[in-house]
Amino acid sequence: MPSTRALRIDRERKEIELHDGARVAYDHLALTTGARVRKLDCKGASHDAVHYLRDLPDARRLVERTRTARRAVVVGGGYIGLEAAASLRQKGLDVTVVEAEARVLARVASPSISVIMQRAHTRHGVSLALGRKVVAIHNVADGVAVELDDGAWLSCDLVVVGIGVLPNTELAAGCGLEVASGIVVDACVRTSDPSIVAAGDCAAFVPYWSPAGRAACRIESVQNANDMARTAAASILGRSEHYRAVPWFWSDQCDLKLQMAGVSTGFNDFAVRGSVDEGKFSLFYFRDGRLLLWTASTGHKTTCSHASCSQPVRGQA
Ligand code: NAI
Repeated sequence: MPSTRALRIDRERKEIELHDGARVAYDHLALTTGARVRKLDCKGASHDAVHYLRDLPDARRLVERTRTARRAVVVGGGYIGLEAAASLRQKGLDVTVVEAEARVLARVASPSISVIMQRAHTRHGVSLALGRKVVAIHNVADGVAVELDDGAWLSCDLVVVGIGVLPNTELAAGCGLEVASGIVVDACVRTSDPSIVAAGDCAAFVPYWSPAGRAACRIESVQNANDMARTAAASILGRSEHYRAVPWFWSDQCDLKLQMAGVSTGFNDFAVRGSVDEGKFSLFYFRDGRLLLWTASTGHKTTCSHASCSQPVRGQA
């Protein structure tokens, strides 16, 4: 039913109310409502030069803008920001990434990986403004200027914002389902109503590898969405399978291809194999001798000039 919005879930009658007043009955319901971009909240944030990247029309609009743009400011040094920065730089634009934290990828990667990615971007001519926030976007004669909290003005003609996503939990909350950082689901991805499952970016769960009693979390990745959907389908069919997929991620930035399996949270040791200098390496993260995360890069073409590149500092990660 394209172009149709679900407005409300009536759990008692097991019906969905649509935007045109129609109602659709269900025996089982799957909430796969995803997430939406977090919007920049400052003066000038709705300027035409400001872009987000979530769906195909967003991507098309951005590509169109890059035909004439020469200087870009990317707000956010997460996956969206860094992948956008690498692509814009590849197209020949001057690029500055503004990241609020002291390092890029702080939410999803260990400090060693952040340092490696920062060096890769610097090597490719991307400027990094770390620990900085945007306070305003100003209209200036030849484009816009992004004002930072240290008083700097970055002139540009294109701004890409990648400052995270917000889960779409309103339908679930509106009908009284348990919602925390996302729609809370059990090991079989059932919500607090057994006839309703939830999967993907919108769903929060306690991963099987978490110590007991940990809060539910969301994993924002396409792999998680696909694998959770399989468990949701099994639950709908009456088969109680537990969700036990190992999370994995990949990212192409500059000339590095980064792959990760697992999560680094709570590690107390790590080991390096291969050459960080040549961009061909594996990093293994352990907690009390147990492997938590494997990260690998399959190489870049240019050699890094930093002598220290091959030595992520032990204990610093
Ligand atoms: P993110 O949460 O990964 O990164 C957002 C970054 O913006 C963080 O580093 C944060 O510190 C920073 N930030 C937040 N507010 C800021 C501000 N006001 N000024 C400056 N920096 C600020 O989210 P992102 O990159 O927007 O990606 C959205 C979702 O899409 C994430 O779930 C991400 O994992 C996913 N994604 C995954 C990819 C992959 O797996 N290769 C590729 C692209 C996106």
